[in-house]
Amino acid sequence: MSLKIRPISDALGAEVFGIDFRNPVLDSELQTLKSELAEHLVLVVRNQNLNPDQLVAAVRMFGEIMPQHLTEMLMPEHPDIAVLDSRNVQPGPDGKSMPVGSRAWHTDHTNHAMPPKFTVLYAVNLPETGGDTSFANMQRAYGLLSEDERKELVNLRTLNKIEDHSYVSDEDRSRFGERQSHPLIRTHPDTGRQGIYLHPGKTECIEGMTPEASRIFVDQLLDRTIVSEVIYRHRWLPGDLIIWDNRGVSHRAHADYDLKIGRVMHRVLVRGEVPF
Ligand SMILES: [Fe+2]
Repeated sequence: MSLKIRPISDALGAEVFGIDFRNPVLDSELQTLKSELAEHLVLVVRNQNLNPDQLVAAVRMFGEIMPQHLTEMLMPEHPDIAVLDSRNVQPGPDGKSMPVGSRAWHTDHTNHAMPPKFTVLYAVNLPETGGDTSFANMQRAYGLLSEDERKELVNLRTLNKIEDHSYVSDEDRSRFGERQSHPLIRTHPDTGRQGIYLHPGKTECIEGMTPEASRIFVDQLLDRTIVSEVIYRHRWLPGDLIIWDNRGVSHRAHADYDLKIGRVMHRVLVRGEVPF
């Protein structure tokens, strides 16, 4: 079966058929996947059946794999892979146990100087219902704002830190805890499109604003711009591998299933450039 790619929603994303990452991928196919990813920001690659080595090899075709914090989630024999298992979820500052990534719309790992350009999630075990992941096209979200507001936002920067959650280990805090300044509006290096670039949980402040004023500003900005027309909600199927571009999308896990069931995802990150 040859490579077939078709849009999966009006907001963003494309669905990919005819690729088996256990087998060699042609250069021309890889170039197509990369350019479709830059265009659609999310690729849903269907019908994969990958062991950890094959998963890592597949992701490596898209760039350099980068280390992940929350190191206790890493697979011991394959530390490039984080195992997101709902049975291992730790309570957050509010005492609630919520799946990783379900607290707010966010882009990944902004506490790094060169945050991941791509995140890959591979479905290993899924609940019968629920456990969806939603994606928001942050380039379109930015486009919803007035030209005057866009001109203001383009000058702002966020100061990012690792979360204060008790489940972040001291070791991770010392390795990954340095504050990082990033532009609030990030430009995609391939397409030149600009988008809102935020991880609310990791944003200590907008530079020049107090943390309290920053929180209100960030919440209001996301409320106004992440609206239905920029969102795609993905209902996972067995064998789905999703690769998304953190430079242009935010995402959010849904906490709508019994965590004890053991929704298991394997996650790998691809190193990005310094955001601009
Ligand atoms: Fe995430």
